[in-house]
Amino acid sequence: MLTMAAVRFVVFVATLLVCDAADDPIVEVKSGKVAGRVVEFAHKDVEVKRTVHVFQGIPFAEPPVGGLRFRAPEPKSPWQGVRDAKELGNACMQPAVPLLPVEEPKSEDCLYLNIFAPQTGADKLPVMVWIHGGGFVHGSGGTGYDGTALAAIGDVIVVTINYRLGPFGYLSSGKFHLRNDRLSKWLVKGIGDERVTGNYGFLDQVLALQWVQDNIAAFGGDAKKVTLFGESAGGISIEYLMLSPLTDGLFHRAIMESGTSIMPGFFSSDKVKESIIAHGLGKLVDCEKGTSEELLQCLRGATAEDLKEAGNVKNGKLANVTGIADPFIPFPPVVDGNFLTASPEDLIRDRSFQKRGTDIMIGSLADEGRGFLIMLFPDNANDTEVFMNKTTYEPVSSLFLESYKNSNPAVADAVKLMYVNWEDADSEDADYVEALSQTYGDLYFVCPADLSARAHFQAGSKVYLYQMTHIPDKSLFKMKWLKAMHMEDIPFVFGYHFDSAMNWTMSDDDVMMTLKIMKYWTNFAKTGNPNLSDNDVELTEDEKQTDWPLFKVPGLEYKDLSLRMETKRALKAKECAFWNDFIPKLMKHTDAAQTCSKETEDGQLKYKEEENRQP
Ligand SMILES: *[C@@H]1O[C@H](CO)[C@@H](O)[C@H](O)[C@H]1NC(C)=O
Ligand SMILES: *[C@@H]1O[C@H](CO)[C@@H](O)[C@H](O)[C@H]1NC(C)=O
Ligand SMILES: *[C@@H]1O[C@H](CO)[C@@H](O)[C@H](O)[C@H]1NC(C)=O
Ligand SMILES: *[C@@H]1O[C@H](CO)[C@@H](O)[C@H](O)[C@H]1NC(C)=O
Ligand SMILES: *[C@@H]1O[C@H](CO)[C@@H](O)[C@H](O)[C@H]1NC(C)=O
Repeated sequence: MLTMAAVRFVVFVATLLVCDAADDPIVEVKSGKVAGRVVEFAHKDVEVKRTVHVFQGIPFAEPPVGGLRFRAPEPKSPWQGVRDAKELGNACMQPAVPLLPVEEPKSEDCLYLNIFAPQTGADKLPVMVWIHGGGFVHGSGGTGYDGTALAAIGDVIVVTINYRLGPFGYLSSGKFHLRNDRLSKWLVKGIGDERVTGNYGFLDQVLALQWVQDNIAAFGGDAKKVTLFGESAGGISIEYLMLSPLTDGLFHRAIMESGTSIMPGFFSSDKVKESIIAHGLGKLVDCEKGTSEELLQCLRGATAEDLKEAGNVKNGKLANVTGIADPFIPFPPVVDGNFLTASPEDLIRDRSFQKRGTDIMIGSLADEGRGFLIMLFPDNANDTEVFMNKTTYEPVSSLFLESYKNSNPAVADAVKLMYVNWEDADSEDADYVEALSQTYGDLYFVCPADLSARAHFQAGSKVYLYQMTHIPDKSLFKMKWLKAMHMEDIPFVFGYHFDSAMNWTMSDDDVMMTLKIMKYWTNFAKTGNPNLSDNDVELTEDEKQTDWPLFKVPGLEYKDLSLRMETKRALKAKECAFWNDFIPKLMKHTDAAQTCSKETEDGQLKYKEEENRQP
């Protein structure tokens, strides 16, 4: 990846040398002029030749530093003269992830976006805004998301954005209404006031989308045809944006790749825990304070580097100081009464999408769950298959279910019944890897997407569901046993094969998949139908739908993203009934059987959580 940065740098220098400054495309946005650069897109494996104007590092907000830390972003104030927009802006503060390095320098001053505008002669192109993934702690709109190929091949304007991550983006100091004396023993210093309201990263996304509304016409974009697309935390973000009252008119269609707002682990309703974590973070940066107001003032004075380190789950310090070992992210999205008014689960159950009927594409990959198993197979990078026997399976499965906050043995038994291949289970060398992989894939990705697809359908949206089963020849992770793993859709959507700076040559099959996926994605952005391009107006309604039928209930049709692009139906229907219907009921029944233990510590904990759930 370092060499990739070097290659990019060389290409960039070369561009500077050949391009006379007078050739730079200059666009005037509300806050001033920006000068981008010209890229001539051409590739031997595709007929398209396009001039693409690329603008990088355009600020859409004031740097959220000093008094603006832990506050909604402020629009960027105007500048004089022409601002250079030829290089990526800083990425937001984040701990390093060696497997997926982010190349840009990291800084709190990171609210930048990038625009890839193909020159087609048309004056109003559809706009696709990419929201990157990384679990709300990692990533940027830059590394891995060069939009040149997608813009050139798909004739759409591509925008990629940054948003604040980790504690900078999502710290919440909690809010707690004392309702009952019995709760006083859990009273933690500082609870009762709420100064740090969280969701700042989402507010950054909202401001970036507002910026697109205000400025994209100047780049040739149609502000009335904005499609959001994003992967993992990007997909999660997109559904949150659909549930937020702050996004009216900011986008018109959405593509959620491997992420929905109801994925376990990416939402907190536990205000006590939020408060403990916020004060724990404070303690780690010499801000041990009584009230949230004092905490906030002190945290604004801490260095960004110290805050980043304090918020890094990997070093164990936050878990140590708070006694809360969070398996996912310590700073998840919260109900702040502003961006989000209730839990995503409640809002989705009530079909409370702010704009009902926003058309969506939503989906996942066939082997998402394998990502959870990487650490179990450190020495198998070159193997096409890995194996796990029953003896290893049982403890690993329980461990993962505990991280899903479920140590109920009835759930573990039900999961085993559902996922183990019983036909071979008695054999000594029976393989349990697929059982684990499918369990976690379904629990975190496939079945939340099923629930979400049904809700959007019932709210009147056109819904296109997919599952990618194509196993890439060239993988992001270079471990063949991972198969169609989380994130493996990204090289196809962004057309890595066509990005000369990436040196990412794909097989013919992968190139064909790339072109088909790009076509579906950009058709959807143009027409609201992945099978209908601008030129296909002569297709009948039936023809438009035969290739990729709408997801309907009943019906449940979806597209299998593979070389044959088959239409199938009822994706993981039994497994999703299991997770979305049976397991919640099972938990309710087994919990009900235990209510008499209310006076035990466990019972009190449950009681506390229930109190918290009150509005
Ligand atoms: C956890 O806290 C204890 C006591 O304060 C300290 O000795 C230990 O080094 C800490 N461990 C980590 C990983 O920070
Ligand atoms: C995998 O193969 C590569 C190249 O053949 C080799 O350099 C590497 O050490 C192998 N990795 C493992 C874990 O065996
Ligand atoms: C199961 O796998 C573990 C780890 O590879 C191994 O130590 C153990 O001997 C295996 N058990 C059986 C019964 O094969
Ligand atoms: C591009 O990739 C190929 C094959 O992976 C490798 O041999 C070559 O050295 C790379 N070129 C650059 C400039 O990194
Ligand atoms: C759309 O469907 C038609 C008819 O089934 C097919 O010929 C065409 O290739 C499809 N378009 C795309 C982008 O898949």
